[in-house]
Amino acid sequence: MTTRYGLRRTPEEYERLRAQARAWEDATARLLDRVGLSEGMSCLDAGCGPGETMRLMAERVGPAGRVLGLDADGALGEQAQEMLRDAGHGQCSVTAYEIGGETLPGGTYDLVFARLLLFHLPERTEVLARLWEAVAPGGTLLVQDYDLSVVSTVPESLVVEGFTGLMTRIFEGIGCDVRVGTRLPALFAEAGIGTPDGTEIAGMVATLGPARMMLEAVVRGALPAAVARGVVEPEGAERVLARLAQEAAEHPDRPLLPPLLVGAWKTKAPTP
Ligand SMILES: C[S@@+](CC[C@H](N)C(=O)[O-])C[C@H]1O[C@@H](n2cnc3c(N)ncnc32)[C@H](O)[C@@H]1O
Repeated sequence: MTTRYGLRRTPEEYERLRAQARAWEDATARLLDRVGLSEGMSCLDAGCGPGETMRLMAERVGPAGRVLGLDADGALGEQAQEMLRDAGHGQCSVTAYEIGGETLPGGTYDLVFARLLLFHLPERTEVLARLWEAVAPGGTLLVQDYDLSVVSTVPESLVVEGFTGLMTRIFEGIGCDVRVGTRLPALFAEAGIGTPDGTEIAGMVATLGPARMMLEAVVRGALPAAVARGVVEPEGAERVLARLAQEAAEHPDRPLLPPLLVGAWKTKAPTP
């Protein structure tokens, strides 16, 4: 089985991933604490990207703990490793690895975590089953992922609806599930994990002016893959983005609901 990731691998995209990680840092830190991540534990961050969650893990498990990040993008993984080393987290290591249908490396972990990974992978149920397999007895699987369907302004705007439609078409066209966050409990069941022990939804209220750049960057990250697959015409996409920019310039303070980040977790029974 091969996995497919449709976002660009460019310095601009890496910067967007870091900004995105900062935006959700509190929501993830809260759940790491809620599932009891603590001193000396071992963790896996599947699809660790820039390593920002690994930093939060390292702060909790301390020097006696172990934090492994896996990412298909070796260049981004090296940057993550360097950032973590500079921050003094020697218990962290990042391995270039394409997560798919095989058993994950490194044995089992007290915490297996994946944020904004399943969204991108058409074989998400199978990957989820592999993540669960890597959870040690008594350990926890924690997943956070998006529901993009909520993106809207108040009052509603045809231009923003047009943008949301484009974003949905692009992501669905390259094999993503734009509502995977809300589907997490169903996916847990399909993967044989059972009902999550808990779910939590994180979100924020933004305004159209400042949020426009981030929304545009999300679409631009996936646009080349969508164009290559014939999902959208570049000229049509540019027209939608130009209309969004104009709307944001005219109504910068209009309240905007960005994607929701849904968390779901399950703890494995300890060995008897
Ligand atoms: C949207 S980013 C999220 C990064 C990080 N989890 C976060 O929330 O900040 C998705 C990451 O998953 C990685 N990825 C995508 N498919 C993968 C796969 N099959 N195996 C490992 N990593 C993968 C990408 O390279 C990218 O770094």
